[in-house]
Amino acid sequence: MKNIVVLVSGGGTNLQALIDAQNRGEIKGGKITCVISSKEGAFALERAKNNGIKTVTLPRKHFSDNLAYSKALLKILKEQNADLIVYAGFMTILDDVVCNEYPNKMINVHPALIPSFCGKGFYGLRVHEKALEKGVKLTGATVHFVTAECDGGPIILQKAVEVRQDDTPQTLQKRVMEEAEWKILPKAVSLFCEDRISVIDNKVHID
Ligand code: GAR
Repeated sequence: MKNIVVLVSGGGTNLQALIDAQNRGEIKGGKITCVISSKEGAFALERAKNNGIKTVTLPRKHFSDNLAYSKALLKILKEQNADLIVYAGFMTILDDVVCNEYPNKMINVHPALIPSFCGKGFYGLRVHEKALEKGVKLTGATVHFVTAECDGGPIILQKAVEVRQDDTPQTLQKRVMEEAEWKILPKAVSLFCEDRISVIDNKVHID
């Protein structure tokens, strides 16, 4: 069984999707063993506690810089024997020391079809504001491995979602979550835990 550690910062609906999938027996070969929040009082922590999952709060504001924060996080990840680290609405920038320690073992869910609307400054609701500003007809979500390049790691799964003419950033965010993020994140986690993912020439192959 692989130990899955989930990193959160906010509401935690993606964490909830993982917990629900786990409770339905859909995460094969892995178990969520710890949830770490970079924000005190994040609702995601309540979701973990309600399901008997260990929680750790490591507030970013208690650290002077990214490197100091990243080293403290790394220490916890090692103590928890993390086999897979999942960014589920984790909004804190980490130093490369973390992803270098866990190559192709950290995954992120991003609320757009990478390489559109991604990279520095594209997070949360802002991603959907930019998609609406551009007038794209299709958007969606991407699950990818975390590398030193922001939102640039090998793509594991993507799912498209139609944009409606009357969408607001909020309605689009909700639909992208419901129709894409909450489906492809648990699926990618299960594929990883079943050892069905390999990365060749920076591209993901699924057995
Ligand atoms: C989700 O839409 C997630 O994809 C996004 O933040 C939201 C968190 O919601 N993440 C990013 O934008 C990362 N670049 P949640 O806390 O309810 O899962």
